Amino acid sequence: MTNLAVLGLGSMGSALAHCLLEAGHNISVWNRTPDKAEGLAKAGAKVFDSADEAVAASDFTIVCIKSHRETVELVGGLSVPLTGKTICDMSTGDTSDADALVAMLAERGADYMLGMINAYPSGVGENDVTILTVGSADAWDQYGDIIRTLGGKSAYVGKQPAALAALFAGLFTVRQGFMFGMIYGALVCQKTGIPMKVFSDQIPATLKLVNDYYDLFAKTVPAENYDNAEASLKIYALAQEDALKTFQSLDAPAEFIQLIYERTKTAWDEGLGEKQLTALVKHMAG
Ligand SMILES: NC(=O)c1ccc[n+]([C@@H]2O[C@H](COP(=O)([O-])OP(=O)(O)OC[C@H]3O[C@@H](n4cnc5c(N)ncnc54)[C@H](OP(=O)(O)O)[C@@H]3O)[C@@H](O)[C@H]2O)c1
Repeated sequence: MTNLAVLGLGSMGSALAHCLLEAGHNISVWNRTPDKAEGLAKAGAKVFDSADEAVAASDFTIVCIKSHRETVELVGGLSVPLTGKTICDMSTGDTSDADALVAMLAERGADYMLGMINAYPSGVGENDVTILTVGSADAWDQYGDIIRTLGGKSAYVGKQPAALAALFAGLFTVRQGFMFGMIYGALVCQKTGIPMKVFSDQIPATLKLVNDYYDLFAKTVPAENYDNAEASLKIYALAQEDALKTFQSLDAPAEFIQLIYERTKTAWDEGLGEKQLTALVKHMAG
C-alpha cells in the first residue's frame, strides 16, 4: 500500500486526511500548530512533529496550507531527500507560484501534482465532487485512484502548472459573472419597485436557458464551427441593446450590460451576426 502524508490540517487538510483514513489508507500527518492533529491521531493517523519526518515516511504527500507560495517555502525548506517522491499541492495559488513550485520540485528530483478542490471540506469523499489536477502523467497513473477517493469525479487536465490556475480563474469568472449579473439585475428591477422575491424566484427559470450553453463550447470552439445557431449572435445583440437602453432610461448602473453589448455588436459588425454566440471566443481572442 502507498505511504501517504498530509501536511496542513486546517479545515480542508483535516477533511482530506480523515477521508483517506476512512478509505483504509495508512497516513502520516503534520501541522505547524500541533493541536490540530489530535483528532487525526485518535482516528489512527501517525502524527509527526516535523514535516521532514512525515515526508520521509511517505511516497505521496498532499500539502494543503495557505497557498502555493507557502508550499514553496515549506517543501523547499525540507532537509529530507525528495528524489522519487511525489508532492501534490492542494493549496490554491496563482500561475507564477505554481511554476515556482514545480521548478523547485524538479530541482529536488520530486514528481509534482497540483490539485484544485471544487468543494467545501464537508464534500470531500463524495462521489460527485471534483478535484482537477495537473501534473506528470506518471503521477496521475500512480496516484489518480487516491485523488478519486477524495472526490469521485476527479480528473487529470494536463501537465502545464499554469493550466490549473487558468481553469480556476475561468470557472471562478463564470460564477462571479453570474453573481454580478444578479447584482446588476437586482439594481435595475429595484428601479421600478419589483419585489426582490419576485426577481429571485425567476432566476432558476432564466438559468435553464443557459444549460444548452454548457456543451456548446466543446462542440463549437475546437472545430471553429459556429453555424446553425438556434439564437444567433445578432439576436443576442438586439436583446442586449434593449436591456442596455432600459438600464440607461431607469438610471441603473449599466456598465456590465454595456460591455456585453459592445463586445457582441462589434462581432456582428465584423460579419458574425448569424453565428453562435460562442463565436465570440474566437473573435475576442484576436
Ligand atoms: N476550505 C475550503 O472550503 C477550501 C476549498 C477548496 C480549496 N481550499 C484551499 O485549501 C487550502 C487550505 O484551506 P483551509 O480551509 O484548510 O484553511 P485553514 O482552515 O485556514 O487552514 C490553513 C492551514 O494552513 C496552515 N498554514 C498556513 N500557512 C502555513 C505556513 N506558512 N506553513 C505551514 N502551514 C501553514 C495552517 O497551519 P496552522 O494550523 O499552524 O495555522 C493550517 O493548517 C487553501 O489553499 C484553500 O484555498 C479550501
